[in-house]
Amino acid sequence: MAENKQSSLNLSGINAAIIMDGNGRWAKRNAINVTSGHEKGVDVVRKIVESAAKAHLESLSLYAFSTENWSRPKKEILGIKKLIISAIDSQVPELINQKVRLNFFGDYSSFGNDVVDAIEQAESVTASQESRLKLNIALGYGGRADIIEAAKLISTDVKLGKLPVEDISNETFFKHLKAPINELDLLIRTGGDHRISNFLLYHLAYTEIQFTDTLWPDFTEEEFIKCLEAFSNTERRFGKRTL
Ligand code: IPE
Ligand code: IPE
Ligand code: MG
Repeated sequence: MAENKQSSLNLSGINAAIIMDGNGRWAKRNAINVTSGHEKGVDVVRKIVESAAKAHLESLSLYAFSTENWSRPKKEILGIKKLIISAIDSQVPELINQKVRLNFFGDYSSFGNDVVDAIEQAESVTASQESRLKLNIALGYGGRADIIEAAKLISTDVKLGKLPVEDISNETFFKHLKAPINELDLLIRTGGDHRISNFLLYHLAYTEIQFTDTLWPDFTEEEFIKCLEAFSNTERRFGKRTL
């Protein structure tokens, strides 16, 4: 049934994002270690990406690791690092098949050169194809750091006389922010908490936000499609009078 429903969804031009929260609680609930929880989370990513491509989304941006997540235990970070490398290794051929263009954003250099190299390689082998879906992974990302960095770049252009202050616009910010999207249309957060946790702060101005109690490892394609359907049935007013 999900299949049939899915084929009728056409969300072309729509940029969606997910705060994939709940791996730790899922692991605890199932009496396994937190890294195995993250591992289960990666399996879910694979299914949701396929679903996003079928629904013709323009882009899907996934929050995988925040600037604040660097303060987690070393062991957990090492587990995540290994998982990034193995997920890239196993998933890239499938992404190429599905015509998905991969793009990581954030400051992930502290994961080490092996991660940086694997990411660069994955981005370049998926870059040339005409994409069905842009898959953006936020890694070592923080919305505030993104805005601060953009402000620094813009100030430098002003200082060098390349940009008149009065020309600074929304577009100027979009151009300098690291997140590879402009308007964000839909944000889903799993795991039951109702917060943004420093995700795409600048981009959230008119985003439709949905929260679900489902822990990320339990999130299904069916629930994702329900989220997309709810989004497509929402009247977006952007401050205008529509009555
Ligand atoms: C989200 O799951 C993944 C990362 C932040 C890396 P969590 O690990 O935050 O899961 P909970 O919130 O502890 O359940
Ligand atoms: C948000 O989850 C970050 C990611 C999903 C990568 P967190 O678990 O880090 O957020 P808080 O601590 O609950 O706000
Ligand atoms: Mg969490």
